[in-house]
Amino acid sequence: MYRLDQNETPLFDALMEYVNRGTIPFHVPGHKKGIGIDEEYKSFIGDNPFKIDVTVFKLVDSLHHPTGPIKKAQELAADAYGSDASFFSIHGTSGAIQAMILSVVGDGEKIIIPRNVHKSVTSGIILSGASPVFMNPEFDKRVGIAHGVTPETVEETLRLNPDARAVLIINPTYYGVSTDVKRIADIVHSYNIPLIMDEAHGPHLTFNDKLPVSGMSVGADICAQSTHKIIGALTQCSLLHVRADRVDVRRVQQVLNLLQTTSPSYILMASLDCARRQIAMKGKELLEGAIELANYARSEINNIPGLYCFGEEILGSPGVFALDPTKITVTCRDLGLTGYELDMLLSNKYHIQVEMSDLYNVLAVGSFGDTSENIDKLINALKEISADYTGKTETKPDFLDIPSIPKAVINPRQAFNSKKTSIALKDSIGKISGEFLMAYPPGIPLLCPGEIITEEIIGYVQRLKDVGLYVQGTEDPTIENIKVVI
Ligand SMILES: Cc1ncc(COP(=O)(O)O)c(C=O)c1O
Repeated sequence: MYRLDQNETPLFDALMEYVNRGTIPFHVPGHKKGIGIDEEYKSFIGDNPFKIDVTVFKLVDSLHHPTGPIKKAQELAADAYGSDASFFSIHGTSGAIQAMILSVVGDGEKIIIPRNVHKSVTSGIILSGASPVFMNPEFDKRVGIAHGVTPETVEETLRLNPDARAVLIINPTYYGVSTDVKRIADIVHSYNIPLIMDEAHGPHLTFNDKLPVSGMSVGADICAQSTHKIIGALTQCSLLHVRADRVDVRRVQQVLNLLQTTSPSYILMASLDCARRQIAMKGKELLEGAIELANYARSEINNIPGLYCFGEEILGSPGVFALDPTKITVTCRDLGLTGYELDMLLSNKYHIQVEMSDLYNVLAVGSFGDTSENIDKLINALKEISADYTGKTETKPDFLDIPSIPKAVINPRQAFNSKKTSIALKDSIGKISGEFLMAYPPGIPLLCPGEIITEEIIGYVQRLKDVGLYVQGTEDPTIENIKVVI
């Protein structure tokens, strides 16, 4: 099914050749194959990483102008993921997302995005000077999180903004929930504009049918994926996949060159080359094991009093078209603990570190790095915590309906560059917000920089505080003051 031989790892091989030749280094980095490294650090890490910590030269190729092994490694990634071109990002998916946005929109142009985007999307919008048009995702009150945006929301937003230059979708969310990306791709393409995807949590989707479909498989035009989050690449390694119909591949390379360091780590890039081989050759079976373990955890957790772990029963609710079963969201509100408290108990008492927590949940990320022993340790810790806390504390209330999205009068870049002053929140009605104000749960901005502060929002913040829910984001942690544009 692949065009190329996915067993090959051209970049890793080139580095092995450099090592096997016994090359004498008169190039940076200055530690010269580890000789100049701090002893304690080296004795922990071992010798080998330093032998392939090299810089740009002919044998190992250049990330900015690839003509050799990096070019070939990127072509193999494109073949594995079904794109026209794929690029290595060593600035994580944050860097890839910024490049993706800068490749499709420019100063003053509209881009349609969900309201609950990762901050790298906002950075890309600030860098590009584009104007975001926001879509509300669907909210799930039981678990207190935002799911996907529906195809109907995308359709309506495009109808109202036919001059938009691109649409961005998250596939899947942090919690593993995917919207109907195929229908959204068809809607977006009917306007002949690119669909770009934040697939930070989807570099494995292509390789097992039990997972939601990938952006590339439904015709998305660019997808940014955190290969380091879910599959076997080292932290910071991500992929940017491009389809050439509506996006200029050469522009993507130019933008990446604008953003990325001229000294990319070959340790990281080699791990990406090898992670691609691993997922292409063994992904199906490795993921099969990860899915099985995560489903086992889900069904065990659902038998623990006070805990809930959503699964297939939520399919078909608004914004929920498909689920990644490897994401284990443990909702603990019926136990009367906040997710933050459960996170701390797991970490301090059981030395189990989850990925993140919010008011109602902790999120445990599953992957093919899991073992049944570790999954059982998580389940047993949760059982003990449930027995210790059942009936002892009060349940947190439902989150409150989010106020309507306020009007933006300047775009995020103008707001970022504007002079600002801090004033009392109660006196800020009608002023232009200079910062974000986020409601938790469900982790969505009430205000973005450049938007007009409304009476409805001020009232909402007070009600959140009154019922003990969270609002965050302003420089003032008490949220008594907010920075406004002057
Ligand atoms: C939805 C989403 N997009 C983008 C990113 C950024 O990815 P990275 O950490 O690889 O820069 C994250 C990180 O958590 C994320 O959750």
